[in-house]
Amino acid sequence: MSQSVASRTTFDPEKLVRAAIHHLPLYTREEAPVEKPARAVRLDWNESPYGPSPRALEALAAVATHNRYPEFDAWALRDAIGRYAGVPANRIVAGAGLDNVLETLMLLLIDHGDRVIISEPTFMVYELLVRGHGGESVNVPLDRDFQLDARGILDAIDDRTKLIMICNPNNPTGNLLSPDAIEQIVANAPCLVAIDEAYAEFAGGSYRDMMDEHPNLAVLRTLSKFAGLAGMRVGYGIFPESLMPYLMRVMPGFCNVSAAASAAAIAALADGEYNRATITRIISDRETLAERLRQIPGVEPLPSATNFLLVRLPVTNAETVVRALASRGVYVRHFGNPAFGIADCLRVSIGTPDDNAIFAEQLEQVLKAKEQAV
Ligand SMILES: Cc1ncc(COP(=O)(O)O)c(C=O)c1O
Repeated sequence: MSQSVASRTTFDPEKLVRAAIHHLPLYTREEAPVEKPARAVRLDWNESPYGPSPRALEALAAVATHNRYPEFDAWALRDAIGRYAGVPANRIVAGAGLDNVLETLMLLLIDHGDRVIISEPTFMVYELLVRGHGGESVNVPLDRDFQLDARGILDAIDDRTKLIMICNPNNPTGNLLSPDAIEQIVANAPCLVAIDEAYAEFAGGSYRDMMDEHPNLAVLRTLSKFAGLAGMRVGYGIFPESLMPYLMRVMPGFCNVSAAASAAAIAALADGEYNRATITRIISDRETLAERLRQIPGVEPLPSATNFLLVRLPVTNAETVVRALASRGVYVRHFGNPAFGIADCLRVSIGTPDDNAIFAEQLEQVLKAKEQAV
């Protein structure tokens, strides 16, 4: 075989894979402990500790046509979401989780070198998706109170800026962002502004109504958190009417939502009573946990409008505490980038009262052991 044929037939992933992917960080869970603990308390991904509405489980069990594709444009699902969110179904894009809707949005907007403004610390997936699509994420950090720098964001806009991502309430800090700053940004930005309201049901407010006055606003939501359907993967976006003809071209066939997930989501959205009761319970458990954590010396849970708490610890870097908790079977998250200003914090999802109590107890023990070791 000649040299040129050999090189043509050599499979070279390095050359094959798009340059943008080469240096992309991996989106992972915290490292699992070497020795698997007997019991696992998973408070790391902001899931609901409760199942979805029993009506969703019934609807799921009744799905019989697994050999058939789901409805082509997921109209019944989009219609149910539209009724829930108070917008026409033809303004909704659904997807396999909000992650998938975010991906559709990137496909719609991002050419090589295009820019997206984000405000860190925030949901890491934005940066990964932007960079993965060959775009550039421009960070205008949150201030010391985890509030948006509206002036800084508007000043950072240039002719390559396609999108401003705002996460409200913000993950991982848990706080609501100032409405004045959001309004200032939406009213003055020439690009699309997308507000990620993954946790809005816990905060009790939405920017959906603002879309009536501002043609550059999109609102993104998920059923993973409040509706307890993380495993089903259903998320959606409400978009300006003017973008819909384009979005319809990039929205995945069947919206990437299975018939089973669709049936569960439609039934879950219709059970407002169950959803409200679950949200109330989680909020109440969050405050009980915050109160318990305040009793541990040096521990300060920060105000939260979500189903998780960001908790300051009496350490410079919480990584070892988070690892020690994992070795005891309690999984929480740590965001170690020093620029984020939360390296001394851990993020804990609100679980069942039992799980929350185990977490608090284990945290107290770990911190005590650490203090005794110095
Ligand atoms: C702010 C934010 N947006 C989006 C998502 C993704 O949600 P989904 O499970 O619908 O993909 C999450 C999940 O943690 C999140 O925290």
